[in-house]
Amino acid sequence: MGYQIRTYGDPVLKSTAAAVEEVNGKVVRLVDNMFETLYTSGNGIALAAPQIGVQKQIFVWDLGEDPLVVLNPEIVESAGEWVYDEGCLSIPGLYVEMMRPKTVLMRGVGLDGEMIEIEADELEARLFQHEIDHLNGVLMFDRMTPDQRAEALAEYRAISAAPTAPAEPERRRLRLR
Ligand code: NI
Repeated sequence: MGYQIRTYGDPVLKSTAAAVEEVNGKVVRLVDNMFETLYTSGNGIALAAPQIGVQKQIFVWDLGEDPLVVLNPEIVESAGEWVYDEGCLSIPGLYVEMMRPKTVLMRGVGLDGEMIEIEADELEARLFQHEIDHLNGVLMFDRMTPDQRAEALAEYRAISAAPTAPAEPERRRLRLR
């Protein structure tokens, strides 16, 4: 089963995730559920555990090649600059042009308990930075200048209030008929 994705305003998204001490069956099941939640989302390429309310340093990603997972990740090197229209499953509908390092070296632990190092560029490097931010309770809004943030928040509020946004009460009414 998949989990509901927590959205902006949920305090779990502002909290710092704890390191995974041991790769056990519980962690493996959690990772399975994270993939299911990611694929159910339709348009996501990555998901961090806090986004489903679990304060563990885990994120999963899939750029269309392989489902991949890392535990306790950190960026150990970064270089360059790259502008990308960044989005977040926890801030649905909002995309903001943001500049961040273009390449990164990420170090972490795989599901087999072995250390992994991945050198990434552009989109993959961006998602690593974005997901590790989630593990530190940092959202896109926190990476913006005050002016950008005010504009992005206003846009997000407008998107959230728009009639095209999923309206649960509406659906419930339909079901009753
Ligand atoms: Ni996100």
